Amino acid sequence: MKNNSTKKIILKLLNSISSEREIKKYLEKFSSDGPNFAIIKVGGAIIQNDIENLASALAFLNQVGLKPIIIHGAGPMLSSELDQRGIKYDFIDGKRVTSHSALMVAEELFKQENKKLLQALSANNVNAKPLLSNVFNCSISNKELGLVGDVQSINMEPINKLLNNGCLPIIAPLGITKDGQIVNINADIAAVALGKHIQPEKMIFLTETGGIIDSHQNIISTINLNADFDELMKAEWLHSGMKLKLQQIEELLNSLSSKASVSITKPQYLTKELFTDSGSGTLIKKGHIIKEFENLSNTQENTLKEIIESGFNGYLSSNFLTEIEHNKFYLSHCNRAAIVMSYDSNIPYMDKFAVMDSAKGEGLGSAVWKKMRESNSQLFWRSKSSNPINKFYINVCDGFQKYKNWNIFWIGIDDYKELSFCINYAASKSPSVNYE
Ligand code: ARG
Repeated sequence: MKNNSTKKIILKLLNSISSEREIKKYLEKFSSDGPNFAIIKVGGAIIQNDIENLASALAFLNQVGLKPIIIHGAGPMLSSELDQRGIKYDFIDGKRVTSHSALMVAEELFKQENKKLLQALSANNVNAKPLLSNVFNCSISNKELGLVGDVQSINMEPINKLLNNGCLPIIAPLGITKDGQIVNINADIAAVALGKHIQPEKMIFLTETGGIIDSHQNIISTINLNADFDELMKAEWLHSGMKLKLQQIEELLNSLSSKASVSITKPQYLTKELFTDSGSGTLIKKGHIIKEFENLSNTQENTLKEIIESGFNGYLSSNFLTEIEHNKFYLSHCNRAAIVMSYDSNIPYMDKFAVMDSAKGEGLGSAVWKKMRESNSQLFWRSKSSNPINKFYINVCDGFQKYKNWNIFWIGIDDYKELSFCINYAASKSPSVNYE
């Protein structure tokens, strides 16, 4: 942290978008990741159209002492420049066929865009330096593509040197072959290669759309590849560029630690994405394994108690598990999220849904929810009206009713009699979590 007054201003700013607890959690987490904190891939269109927001978002990270490694593209600029100069080019599988003359233009443009970013950063008091073609050692494996590099190895020396001097490295996606030939690399592919080598905790893609868009034009908040990848690859509404990106992201996540994640967002929302649980953009993780149990072992019972107490920040009453007779449990393999369903009434009642505080923001909650929903087409539940999860509940429920300080929700219940039974049941249940 540079100095205390900057720190104060920053925390105040952050506070306006998030709770202090969340900010502190992420600041501590990211700071402890050190030089492996994050790689940020900046789409070429952002440098062209959104450079102010980009520079201030990066300056912000720099101010709080976080040093991401930055790699940028220049795709749209390159296409229009090539068109203007009448240089023909093609794409094969999303990779630009690069002739000698196209490469000349690419080199020129990467330099120019890199410089633009450096200048914008410098205007925000960020110390940054260019790395133009000395990071990626390449070979040319597909002659059809012309001067396009396949990354063989990464030269960390220039990157480390800059980081050690407190400088942000700004990398262009150009490589060099053994014979000293400069080659063009698709910027996403270069970013992924860098990620595989550096093994960051976070990989961030800044794009103009700010995330992956679903068929209703909404940004998908979280994607768990284990559960969602195959479906997304089949989806007609997902355009081919995004499929390519997702495939690369899957490949990357398979080579990173299970805690690592990828965020796709836009500069304006980068801070929110990083420092809040709910984020702003698309968070992609390898995913979670969720299992269903009818009975729990003693150890699992203790785990469940821990999850509930951490998630609710309270104490679970000692007779909670003995009170309900017919229940089902959904537990994440990592033992950090759980759902307890009770079948003591006609329609399944979701008695507890808890995610450990330290695991919030990882898409774990939605993974457990999804698994539970696969085997419960009807259910009802309640939550305190002050609980921030209500936003999610209101989105997923078919209806809800307020009662005193409870919100009572349901899904799939059409029969009025049944519904009023459920509402009464939920309203009269005595609380099982105490707060003192
Ligand atoms: N701040 C956390 C992170 O950066 C959580 C982000 C959640 N984002 C989302 N789009 N759901 O890892």
